[in-house]
Amino acid sequence: MHDLKSYLQTRRSSLSMSLEEPGPDQAQLRAILEIAARVPDHGKLAPWRFVLWPRNVRTTMHRNLLALLEGMEDVPDIGKLTQGTDKLLHAPVVVAVISRAAEHPKIPLWEQHLSAGAVCMSLLMAANAHGFEAQWLTAWYVYSDATRDILQLEEGERIAGIIHIGTSSTPKSERSRPELQDIFSIRES
Ligand SMILES: Cc1cc2nc3c(=O)[nH]c(=O)nc-3n(C[C@H](O)[C@H](O)[C@H](O)COP(=O)(O)O)c2cc1C
Repeated sequence: MHDLKSYLQTRRSSLSMSLEEPGPDQAQLRAILEIAARVPDHGKLAPWRFVLWPRNVRTTMHRNLLALLEGMEDVPDIGKLTQGTDKLLHAPVVVAVISRAAEHPKIPLWEQHLSAGAVCMSLLMAANAHGFEAQWLTAWYVYSDATRDILQLEEGERIAGIIHIGTSSTPKSERSRPELQDIFSIRES
């Protein structure tokens, strides 16, 4: 691994479909998740949790999600949604980051959700630090109320990210990035 600055300057995700074995073993995954949980968290609420989705569970989820999709009316592009669902099956390790943000007297929901996003980003970087590639995905089923039982979400919970982790031999090219001049300004008054 390069030094932190050059890592951050060049960091990229890998496509989940390029992720192969090996993925992190149990001890590596534990270390990765411990790093990922070390994020800014206003009020120390830990308004998020991790769920490992083992391969056999993903196979069942995939089957159930496709059955649900097929039964839905007026799905605009079922092929694309099926493809998104198929991504569940590929990477050796898949971890769902679940936001359990809830009304709190002092900490706004928005800040709790932001903390879940920080967890997802830290999880990507922790996987990289352990020598693995990773990608942060969502999919149609994250945004459908009909899938909550399949995803085993508790009341009020939402999936912040599905993090796919593994090893990839596919070279990563740079993608376009915003020009700093377009997203940075100095207040004049
Ligand atoms: C919340 C969130 C959800 C995403 N969902 C998807 C997705 O469903 N499908 C996809 O192809 N990319 C998705 N992406 C983008 C991927 O993570 C993509 O790999 C990433 O933007 C590449 O950027 P990077 O190389 O700078 O990490 C999502 C990103 C975020 C932050």
